Amino acid sequence: MGHRSIGYFLLVYDHQPVLINMPAILVHTVGKSILFGEHAVVYGQPAIAIPVTNLRTKVTLTPDLKTQTPSYYYDAPDIGIHGTLEDLPHDHILVEALRIFKESFSIKSIPSFKLHVSSSIPVAAGLGSSASISVGIVRAIAQHLGLKLPVEKVNALAYQLEKLHHGNPSGIDNTVISYEKPLYYIRNHAPLFLEPREPFYFLLINSTIHSLTSQVVDEVRRAWEVNPTHFGAIFQDIGDLTDQARQAITKGDQVMLGQLITENHHLLQKMGVSLVQLDEIVALCNDNGALGAKLCGAGRGGNVIALVKADSIPPVLQALQSAGWTEIYQTSISKKWSHS
Ligand code: MEV
Repeated sequence: MGHRSIGYFLLVYDHQPVLINMPAILVHTVGKSILFGEHAVVYGQPAIAIPVTNLRTKVTLTPDLKTQTPSYYYDAPDIGIHGTLEDLPHDHILVEALRIFKESFSIKSIPSFKLHVSSSIPVAAGLGSSASISVGIVRAIAQHLGLKLPVEKVNALAYQLEKLHHGNPSGIDNTVISYEKPLYYIRNHAPLFLEPREPFYFLLINSTIHSLTSQVVDEVRRAWEVNPTHFGAIFQDIGDLTDQARQAITKGDQVMLGQLITENHHLLQKMGVSLVQLDEIVALCNDNGALGAKLCGAGRGGNVIALVKADSIPPVLQALQSAGWTEIYQTSISKKWSHS
């Protein structure tokens, strides 16, 4: 979602200083969590993802009228990256974004701007920090160029940027972040939006162990190449669970959904992407009243997602905090899905 905040700029016109409106473009994008089907989705199985609306990335694009020749500046203080286009690595997201816009819309030159990126989404934690930046940059540059892009196009352009971060992304991260709705997703197909019959409440527990999605996806690929039958069967079982989960969500069946979530965790353990710390968090949630829990995202670190009834949130939180797991976010999905 984006809007403009008005700033002012001093220009010299006909030797007279003139104060003109200089709108900065502000774009906010959400985080995400994979509820079912991570990794299996890369191999064509269905997956389910939900937006996490209280974690956000903010992209601010300030047009730069002072420069005659196109120039661009990128500033991401959270991760200590800033510099002009010339200072940035040749495969930096801004370099790629400018190239993609020029190519896709046959634009010769994009007017100068400065881009500021900040986010409350933890990095390398499986909550969509990279996809939220990709979607945010696409929306901001589109507005800068006066392009009113439909969400499908935003998603398609963000997918191209996502390929920079993970050689072979399924596209689920950029899709759920572009649409900001819970969805059932099969690679190379339009997403199906899920309407939960009842609200579902979730806790996201950050192990604070950093994990790079691209690395884990590569490791799973190598393991699958060595043993395609074993891994193919795990992916298929996860796909079957995802189909059952879709029914459970639309029927509002909390207990069924919880069981399926924990079964999905066991299959991710079998795939080799869990860690003792993630297993411990899953067990703590389930032993203290959660309906089900699993790692979410690529694994080998990152977050656990737990399905909880509203009244079991306090005991689950208490157990997690006593065990030292203190970085916890809450999120939910409901019938009347809104961008709160
Ligand atoms: C990452 O959020 C989900 C993975 O399945 C990778 C992908 O779908 O591209 C691990």
